[in-house]
Amino acid sequence: MDFRRIARRKLPSPVFNYMDGGADDEWTLGRNSAAFDDYELLPAQLSGVSAVKLNSTLFGEPVDWPVMISPTGASKLFHAEGEPAVVRAAEKFRMIYSLSTLGTTTIEDVASIGNGPKLFQLYVFKDRGATAEFVARCKSAGYKALCLTVDTPVAGNRERDAVYGFSSGRLRLRSVASWLNHPGWLYRALVKKELEMVNLASNARPSQKEDMSLLEYFNSQIDRSLTWKDVEWLRSLWDGPLVIKGVQTVADCRNAANAGATAVMLSNHGGRQLESTPAAVDCIADVADALHDQLEIICDGGVRRGTHIIKALALGANACSIGRGYLYPLAAGGQAGVERGLSLLQDELERSMALLGCGAVKELNSSFVRRRIGV
Ligand code: GLV
Repeated sequence: MDFRRIARRKLPSPVFNYMDGGADDEWTLGRNSAAFDDYELLPAQLSGVSAVKLNSTLFGEPVDWPVMISPTGASKLFHAEGEPAVVRAAEKFRMIYSLSTLGTTTIEDVASIGNGPKLFQLYVFKDRGATAEFVARCKSAGYKALCLTVDTPVAGNRERDAVYGFSSGRLRLRSVASWLNHPGWLYRALVKKELEMVNLASNARPSQKEDMSLLEYFNSQIDRSLTWKDVEWLRSLWDGPLVIKGVQTVADCRNAANAGATAVMLSNHGGRQLESTPAAVDCIADVADALHDQLEIICDGGVRRGTHIIKALALGANACSIGRGYLYPLAAGGQAGVERGLSLLQDELERSMALLGCGAVKELNSSFVRRRIGV
């Protein structure tokens, strides 16, 4: 939360609120972290925890700890160093980095940074050729996994964006002072034009680019008619790990497995899409009971503390992913900020594992966690 305070100071208010905000009344946004408080940890004392092993595997890759970087759009909005800063930090912490379709660094440029495993998040566009092109680019750039986001048939109702004038393109009077207070940001956006969604730009047909802005192109490509059949189609294009992001129920996770997915990200898109959906952590136990032998399960939402990671894994998740958990540090301090944030989180995880009396994250199970009595 200290990183969040610094981020708020460093960013123009429309940009900060775009990152920080959620849909409607932001109940789901708040619930994502708050729901972790509904679980208690049950230590097993005197268990001999001289070494705590945090290492695990995810998508067939060895990882140093069970946390991955979630796909989030446009990192250069938040810091000049943008996506490359996060890729480098992720590599140092031997964790999987995810690039968003709405990223401000290309698939190929991200691939060229270090050797760490990378995931690309995509949408199935109306123009299936454009989608297939993304997949082909990921294959030739050596991406480890693909992730399809399925909770965005339309954009969520993010009222902060309307209030601060982030999405409308119109300058709101209340935000003018904030833009002017951040001339460096404006210079990068308006003069250096560093904030382009470069993957969309390289994918859009030239005729489309002339007629509409990239965001309009993106919105025009979102396909409300998608079904699980389209996931089967995507599966046919890609034989590596396929992750479905944005599911919450056992039924949808089963659909994902049946369509050929190898992992699910239990996620409500950081509380930015459908309001009143459950927190990711509350979805884990049922999905793990039903499908742990068919899918890797990733808890995506509200993860801020080492104990959150422990609770998610004890409930049956294979890993957690973080979005704002690295975006606030990125905005606060670029690569150094992300590294500091990750190291705090990793230290917390190690310390809490020792206090819990569990010597390896792979040994976390339901005996270490219970739902708080009365909730
Ligand atoms: C993009 O996916 C966003 O949530 O802004």
